Amino acid sequence: MELMDAIQARRSCRAFTDAPVTREVLDEIIAAGCAAPSALNQQPWTFTVVTNREMIDQLAAGSVECRNKLAEASGKSWLAKYDLSFVGSAQALIVIAADPSKIGMGKFLDEEGAHVKAASACIQNMLLAITAKSLGSLWFTMYDKEFLHKTLNIAPELEIVGMLPIGVPAGEMKAVPRKGVEEVAVYID
Ligand SMILES: Cc1cc2nc3c(=O)[nH]c(=O)nc-3n(C[C@H](O)[C@H](O)[C@H](O)COP(=O)(O)O)c2cc1C
Repeated sequence: MELMDAIQARRSCRAFTDAPVTREVLDEIIAAGCAAPSALNQQPWTFTVVTNREMIDQLAAGSVECRNKLAEASGKSWLAKYDLSFVGSAQALIVIAADPSKIGMGKFLDEEGAHVKAASACIQNMLLAITAKSLGSLWFTMYDKEFLHKTLNIAPELEIVGMLPIGVPAGEMKAVPRKGVEEVAVYID
């Protein structure tokens, strides 16, 4: 798939079939993430790849708990109806974390969060690679970070930036609208 096509075809996927995703493909997706830019090429990202079925179920249950707490705390009624079954039906969950000590010259430039910026570029690369392989995923953040640190043994100093549930899409993914270029861009000619 051409890059520009993959950029336009990518959608958040929230339904997966039970078709498997191989270790080779997961390695290729992570390699695409590792090709992202980072300040001083410090590559602050780490990946925790969960393919163990019991662990996926445990993380899915954790997200449901997180959603329920959020619904209560925020009073947002749509949250109660937000179906999270796609987390448990994913074939793999990749958790991306970033090292806040790896921010290049950020500390001298009054620049916040260069590690998160790099991890975000990394995640987008992964989402595009997933799309190019006709797989589905989304940038997912409905989890309790402390729970993830503990359950997946992620070092406490690392900042969790996102989770990617990955699988073969079950059905069409809905396109959501975007602002037009003329709405968001200013040209200074
Ligand atoms: C930082 C970030 C956090 C997100 N967290 C969630 C999430 O927890 N659950 C979810 O269903 N989608 C999540 N999304 C996906 C967005 O809802 C989605 O990207 C947006 O609605 C645009 O849709 P599209 O990805 O299909 O183009 C997140 C996206 C980003 C960038």
